[in-house]
Amino acid sequence: MNQINKQSKNLHEESLQKLKELFPNLFSDEGVLNEAELKAMLEGYPSTTVGKYEFNWAGKMSAKRSAYKPSRANLKPDKSKSIDFDSTENLIIEGDNLEVLKLLQKSYANKIKCIYIDPPYNTGHDFVYSDDFSEGKQAYWEKSGVTENGVKLDTNTESQGRYHSNWLNMMYPRLVLARELLKEDGVIFVSIDDNEVHNLRKIMDEVFGEENFVAQFPWRKRTAKSDVPFGVSQDFEWVITYAKNETFNAMIKGKGRNYYESKDLPNRPWRIHGMTTQRTASERPNSNFTIVNPKTGEEYPVNPNAVWRVTKESFQKYLNEKRIVFPGDYTFLNISQPVLRYFKEDDIKKDGTNFGYVAVPTLLPKEVGMTLDGTKEINKLFNQRLFPFPKPSSLIKYLVSMIKVDDNDIILDFFAGSGTTAHAVMDLNKEDSGNRKFILVQIPEATDPKSEAYKVGYKTISDICIERVKRVSEKIKKESEGKLLDENKNLDLGFKVFKLAPSFFPENLFSPDPEKSEEENIEAYNAYLEKAKQQLSFSFDEFELLYEILLKDGFRLTFKAEELKEFGDNKVLKISDGEKEALVCLDTAMADSTLKNLEKYKDSRFICLERAVDTTKKWNLKNIFGENIWVA
Ligand SMILES: C[S@@+](CC[C@H](N)C(=O)[O-])C[C@H]1O[C@@H](n2cnc3c(N)ncnc32)[C@H](O)[C@@H]1O
Repeated sequence: MNQINKQSKNLHEESLQKLKELFPNLFSDEGVLNEAELKAMLEGYPSTTVGKYEFNWAGKMSAKRSAYKPSRANLKPDKSKSIDFDSTENLIIEGDNLEVLKLLQKSYANKIKCIYIDPPYNTGHDFVYSDDFSEGKQAYWEKSGVTENGVKLDTNTESQGRYHSNWLNMMYPRLVLARELLKEDGVIFVSIDDNEVHNLRKIMDEVFGEENFVAQFPWRKRTAKSDVPFGVSQDFEWVITYAKNETFNAMIKGKGRNYYESKDLPNRPWRIHGMTTQRTASERPNSNFTIVNPKTGEEYPVNPNAVWRVTKESFQKYLNEKRIVFPGDYTFLNISQPVLRYFKEDDIKKDGTNFGYVAVPTLLPKEVGMTLDGTKEINKLFNQRLFPFPKPSSLIKYLVSMIKVDDNDIILDFFAGSGTTAHAVMDLNKEDSGNRKFILVQIPEATDPKSEAYKVGYKTISDICIERVKRVSEKIKKESEGKLLDENKNLDLGFKVFKLAPSFFPENLFSPDPEKSEEENIEAYNAYLEKAKQQLSFSFDEFELLYEILLKDGFRLTFKAEELKEFGDNKVLKISDGEKEALVCLDTAMADSTLKNLEKYKDSRFICLERAVDTTKKWNLKNIFGENIWVA
């Protein structure tokens, strides 16, 4: 390049840089200038985006894309850290939640009833995980939590200049993936404080839809502090709540309507209801009549401008059923006005006298507790302050109890911290004989070597989380001394632990080298594939591979496996997760007798290894199972 060309290139780059500083919206996330937009701006024509309301920040496009980038990881079961591994349906997963949410997509889409999360608030002191997708293989695994010593998360400070953008880039793809997991009538609760509440609302509007905003519950975290900026103590945080769609409906047990029982009435609770309505006789001619109290001779209705709510026929029917209440009847009703009422049937589920289900007030009740209560809970379980600012389990219990849960509904928390959500779910199931399940995700964030937690052996936050849930489970078992488990046979006090790990499928293990050009990376990738002739890595742990294959095939991690003994020459497992079924053989060679035996399972799905079958066997298998087969 000659000198003049070089100078003009530099000038061009400088101008672009200046333009970018002045008008960042003219550039894509990759820094490419939108020339049409620039032209429209310079020529004074109306811009294509003028008037479009949109929330933007640096890196939004790549954050969006990162949600859809496939994961290179796998979830590896760890029996030694689990309780009741073979029977439980609760899960604790150690690893970066972006990767984990991706891995759960196939098996758990539309399966989660409720998500509660308490992400880092971006206070400048807490940590925000940065998803740097251009990083090398080693850094990728270390950041995702696939390490022995835990992950040190990056600090997000205001001086970095992308303070809010960094936080939004972290949250956005996770919320996108979380929404996919929610059931149609599911709900998500997000705890947040004043630092990011405004931004969170905006991205949640975008991801969940403004129309699905349910509430911004104010949660009192502490009593007022003195010596605070501007003289106002910020004692509240928020629980931002969005539904997946309008089928979600929150209800809470409360003192709603009064219900009555009467020996004169069939044995069910009744609600007392007025009998007249302020309508004119011409509006309701069929309900305009007078009746006489047989005991006193008084005439009703007393108000000349009111008519009955019912027709004469219905009135007579109620009278025969002894459902009409004249003043003075049923002294326990305490009715003094000279109006008539009647016992109205009500199909609201009754739960004890005078209790019903009512709409949830925006103000959370005092019983949900404050941060101090969360800290006390941990102190009680560990005799130590091991985790800063845990939420009280009573808060999460209250939120979860707003939802009408069905049997086996799953509650997910993917910023689990000390595991408060599991504590709340186990407690709630104990109290109402429920059968909710939980999934927790927590990155093995390294604890500070100066902290009490580190000193007593908890090297990561996920260690604290797992130990807490274990202690809660033991506590409930001990308190009940078997009684509770007899009453609620389904009470699940176990959990399966999984850890994020590299996939057994080598093409997933390849990662581009950011130092090399795209062509060089493609060449390296092709060479890599050529070398690793088969898809599956050469050595693998059969038990771990079973989990990876089934998760990839859309089975939930709580599947049950039974060995079919009739297959003498190979190990063939019958897998079921309650919804889906398959036969799986992970042996490296398949016997002819197995192939023959499989014929009677032609309506099942079948999974086996590529290396176990030659071309003829593969062809025979396709003949038996058609498309319902995966040769991995
Ligand atoms: C505010 S705390 C949650 C506290 C929790 N609600 C409790 O009561 O204990 C947020 C947690 O999210 C974890 N976290 C941050 N980034 C994460 C990520 N990318 N994947 C999984 N966990 C993450 C942090 O390690 C921290 O423990």
